[in-house]
Amino acid sequence: MKVVAIVGSIRNDSYNLKLAQYVQKRYQDKFDLEILNIREIPFYDQDIENNPPEVVTEFKNKVKTADAVLWVTPEYNGTVPGVLVNVIDWLSRVDKVMIGKPSWIMGASMGNLGTVKAQMHLRDILFSPGINSPLLPSNEVYVGAVHTKFDEAGNLTDEGTVQFLDTVVNNFIDWYNRSNR
Ligand code: FNR
Repeated sequence: MKVVAIVGSIRNDSYNLKLAQYVQKRYQDKFDLEILNIREIPFYDQDIENNPPEVVTEFKNKVKTADAVLWVTPEYNGTVPGVLVNVIDWLSRVDKVMIGKPSWIMGASMGNLGTVKAQMHLRDILFSPGINSPLLPSNEVYVGAVHTKFDEAGNLTDEGTVQFLDTVVNNFIDWYNRSNR
């Protein structure tokens, strides 16, 4: 299975990027995870949506050809970061490459609630008509106090979180296989 990860933080030392990289490495025998670079994606602009910059076309094609999308998001001011909403806007228009594409969500924050509000909002957004992505039910991954949970090498040191991720990954694969029989 080919999965693309879209990370809602473009900073180099992003914990959400570390989480995506950890998933990529730990579950490499279960699926191929490519983390997409959204740093260069320009602001969505309806004037150019039919003839967007090459970087947007490439991004949309990677999503289009993937079997599923993993969203890994921080929470900014109680909601989804603008960089993530921006790429969702691109994905929701013209060829609408997300429609029918299975999704699942994770998020990490330094606060204790671990992106609860951002994920609630993201779930709503992913059900909008231009995206309409079937979403893994339940299995909500909120990694709170994330700054205490990674070591220097990018490994998750919190055993409870690792075990929960194992469960969620298995549930995602079962759900994907059942939904796409
Ligand atoms: C934050 N942060 C934050 N955390 C949280 O739990 N709820 C929130 O509403 C916010 N709001 C917020 C706004 C802005 C503009 C910033 C820069 C940060 C803190 C956030 O969890 C922390 O910076 C994470 O490290 C961001 O994720 P990455 O970049 O490490 O992936």
